[in-house]
Amino acid sequence: MLRIAVLVSGGGTNLQAIIDSIERGKKGQTGLSGLLDKDKERTASEICGSMEEGVINDTQIAVVISNNSDAYALKRAELCGIKSRCISPKSFQDRAEFNRALLEALLEEKVDLIVLAGFLVVIPPEIVEAFPDRIINIHPSLIPAFCGKGYYGLHVHEGVLRKGARVSGATVHFVDSGTDTGPIIMQKCVYVRDDDTAQTLQRRIMEQAEWKLLPGAIDLMAHDRIRVSDNVVKIAR
Ligand code: GRF
Repeated sequence: MLRIAVLVSGGGTNLQAIIDSIERGKKGQTGLSGLLDKDKERTASEICGSMEEGVINDTQIAVVISNNSDAYALKRAELCGIKSRCISPKSFQDRAEFNRALLEALLEEKVDLIVLAGFLVVIPPEIVEAFPDRIINIHPSLIPAFCGKGYYGLHVHEGVLRKGARVSGATVHFVDSGTDTGPIIMQKCVYVRDDDTAQTLQRRIMEQAEWKLLPGAIDLMAHDRIRVSDNVVKIAR
């Protein structure tokens, strides 16, 4: 059983997608790893992106951690009976103390994987080092486009619309010491419409891509399917 910590800052729709995917897995639905075994032709990204809904097997959420006490994500955890904690930088003297407290909490919970699901805090090097290839993030664009410093929240989608890009999408990737630079696990493309606003594009990318890719990557981690070599991911099948 993979023990995960989900780190959040806001609404928590990705957290909800993870919770619902684990429930579907408990009811006997097959996650991405199981589907890969039956379909040798399509890539993991293709299979994951075409799933109706996310499914995760053999995984439990050990804790949900938020840096923001007002995050609705904390309420979602509470409603589902999942342990949650708020660790806010405001409660510490400086950043180093906050970073230490966050690392301690993650070690205490003995988690195998850290899932960043809309966590608006830069992960400090000591946490990256303590969890090598054990931290994943969902980013709402096709990395390496529209990512890096300043590309968070609606800014990502505003950038896409400003450029007139015809496709965007989402990327689930490992976290390294850079911003959105870690090895890419899976991606899904979503078409941009002429009448899109940053808000409509954000929502469609969540529905069509994020809520499937993040559960899919967790299921792959739970079944030890991901290999990283020279910053490139290969999925064992
Ligand atoms: C998502 O768009 C995710 O890609 C980004 O932050 C947003 C979080 O949304 N990293 P939610 O809190 O999961 O609803």
